[in-house]
Amino acid sequence: MTEITTDRVVIVGAGLGALYAALKLAPRPVAVISPDPLGEGASSAWAQGGVAAAMDSADSPESHAEDTVKAGAGTVVPDVADLVTREARDYILDLTTMGTPFDRSEDGGYVLSREAAHSFARVVRVKGDQAGSEIMAALIDRVRETPSIQVLEGTIAVGLAVSDWQVTGVAVQDASEDGSQTVTLRAPAVLLAGGGSGGLYALTTNPPRIRGQVIGMAARAGALIADAEFVQFHPTAMDVGEDPAPLATEALRGEGAVLINKHGARFMQAMHPDAELAPRDVVARAIFAEVQAGNRPMLDTRTALGERVKDLFPSVARYCARNNIDPARDPIPVAPAAHYHMGGIATDTEGRASLSGLWVCGEASSTGLHGANRLASNGLLEALVYARICADGIADTLPPVADADLIEVQFADGKSPNKAKAVEDLRKTMTQDVGVVRDRAGLTRALQVIEALEAEHGDCQQFRNMCATATLIAAGALVREESRGAHERSDFPETTQGPGKRSRMYLSDALTIRAQACKELT
Ligand code: SIN
Repeated sequence: MTEITTDRVVIVGAGLGALYAALKLAPRPVAVISPDPLGEGASSAWAQGGVAAAMDSADSPESHAEDTVKAGAGTVVPDVADLVTREARDYILDLTTMGTPFDRSEDGGYVLSREAAHSFARVVRVKGDQAGSEIMAALIDRVRETPSIQVLEGTIAVGLAVSDWQVTGVAVQDASEDGSQTVTLRAPAVLLAGGGSGGLYALTTNPPRIRGQVIGMAARAGALIADAEFVQFHPTAMDVGEDPAPLATEALRGEGAVLINKHGARFMQAMHPDAELAPRDVVARAIFAEVQAGNRPMLDTRTALGERVKDLFPSVARYCARNNIDPARDPIPVAPAAHYHMGGIATDTEGRASLSGLWVCGEASSTGLHGANRLASNGLLEALVYARICADGIADTLPPVADADLIEVQFADGKSPNKAKAVEDLRKTMTQDVGVVRDRAGLTRALQVIEALEAEHGDCQQFRNMCATATLIAAGALVREESRGAHERSDFPETTQGPGKRSRMYLSDALTIRAQACKELT
């Protein structure tokens, strides 16, 4: 196996957290591992809503933190909620300085959207529903003009090099060739910022490459994982047969759009006092029940927005148009889809994982901010705050380095195993048995399928990383015998009394649970 030793900090991933951290580390040399051309393939660029921040003079970080804790169903770490919400405003100002064209009112204030479970309109947005892509575009421009940042496009991380619980590097492959030879980049520090796990599910809003590989690679290297069972399903993915499913942003409901079924009846009013603006997990379960009952749930923007939907939400209008839906006249078919992984690599308040030399930010991490149900638009905010924290921590830990050679990676050809069918089977299993509503029988079945798939296709590092994360999610869901936030057990419908416990698990624990589950079925 080829090795390259570099003085560059290696950043795995190329979404918001990765690029923001790279910029905050400048002029320290970094290498960004980006499987796709910058701006493509990262979940951040697909975010529609925006960034939650208490920008209104009547609003406050305390209220934002309170909403975050409440939505998280008893497992948010309050100090983390305070830390992240307290600084939110500064990050919006920083992104503005970096060139993000946030929507502004005539008096120059930030236009704020309303999303579910927020007590105030507090989501800062760009061109209606294009926050993610516009913030990313501004950061990419800055990255391109920053000489200390080397972007290794077309390269994917598949493993961590570890010695005595110290991360010493990252194994990378050619992103276009599953089976290319692996090259290990020996680096002074590694920051994982490579996204979550939504694409492990057949129905997802995440880009195709976001399939739990980064969490899985850290777990396989021995890092502690937290809250793996908490996967958020977005209630209103468009149910139009596309993979990934396009999102119909929650901000539409903030503007008054309602949920109806094929009989034209609204069903959220009977479910929650906040109806369509109930917490995301509540709305997702209600929509799931309508899907299961064959009632074809739909998002109806006709009365609230009419033709205006096309100007105010251009991305949604584009997705509708390519599926022959005119949202001014037709309700939009919707279904819940895996959207955000609250769980991930356990980090402390400094963004450090349990292995030395390893920092994590963004969706791959589990900081304790989101608990069992993330508050809308807190994802991008958390990525920014922890990217900064990680960058500061790395800079404080390492001796200064003024310059570093460019990394020149060359991949030799290898055997390219075709894993498409195995990945499809894995994703189907996750949606069927580890989805919106779970039970012991389904979770046990899923663990057995994951084991069988891994046994058959374990020659592919990327697939093993996916299977590791899938195992952690299903095992975590099996041992959490209660319903809490996004984790709903039909066989344990109650929430355990008292403060909720965060779950913490090594991959070895999850594999023991999996082996036990497989025995039960034989
Ligand atoms: C949305 O716009 O509905 C998604 C926002 C988020 O997931 O934070």
